[in-house]
Amino acid sequence: MKVGIIGSGVVAQALGDGFVKHGHEVMLGTREPAKLADWTAKNPGSTVGSFAETAKFGALVILAVKGTVASEALRAAGAANFSGKTIIDAVNPIADAPPVNGVLKFFTNLDESLMEQLQREFPDARFVKAFNSVGSALMVNPKFAAGKPTMFICGNHDSAKKAVSEILDQFGWETADMGKAEAARAIEPLCMLWCIPGFLRNEWTHAFKLLN
Ligand SMILES: NC(=O)c1ccc[n+]([C@@H]2O[C@H](COP(=O)([O-])OP(=O)(O)OC[C@H]3O[C@@H](n4cnc5c(N)ncnc54)[C@H](OP(=O)(O)O)[C@@H]3O)[C@@H](O)[C@H]2O)c1
Repeated sequence: MKVGIIGSGVVAQALGDGFVKHGHEVMLGTREPAKLADWTAKNPGSTVGSFAETAKFGALVILAVKGTVASEALRAAGAANFSGKTIIDAVNPIADAPPVNGVLKFFTNLDESLMEQLQREFPDARFVKAFNSVGSALMVNPKFAAGKPTMFICGNHDSAKKAVSEILDQFGWETADMGKAEAARAIEPLCMLWCIPGFLRNEWTHAFKLLN
């Protein structure tokens, strides 16, 4: 599959590595292609483009930019270039203010998530929240003694969630579908919880698992 990843940071690069490893064709999107020279050298056959070129390239699109600019980045990508497409939204709405006692600050509130805002602004795209509740180093086929970790996902389009759960399967995760876009109000703050042991005790190697 052609996968367009809007972003150039650690998440975009880690997911890019994962999609290449699993045989997909990958383009990473950035405003500054030069910063991804090392990544393309490491991943022959992969390419780098603008946000718009990347959105157009992907049959599947991943959004992996800084939360405060998510909407701006999608506007630059051009809504027509991702209309009707599944967008894996790995973005967390982290505010620029520093964490307090290890707890990140968000610029959203518990009655409206960032993904809901994006889904409303770009109604023809099919957003699925995923990959936001774990560090980039653990996104692709993480190994835990307790078995597969759980990725919590949500979104308004069942076919898009099915496609994302197939990707998660490849990437070594079990999927817990939490329902429609509103569930992102609960899934986005999992990022806060995930980061607390990191900020307090420099522990960054865990993931969530839903037991039932
Ligand atoms: N770090 C993690 O382990 C982790 C884990 C889960 C989820 N997340 C979430 O995943 C997202 C990506 O995180 P990250 O750490 O890889 O990178 P990041 O530093 O949060 O974001 C880097 C990306 O944001 C873009 N960007 C920054 N300012 C911009 C602007 N004014 N206009 C347009 N684009 C702009 C950059 O574009 P250019 O390429 O053009 O510079 C770059 O692609 C974030 O929302 C983060 O909360 C992170």
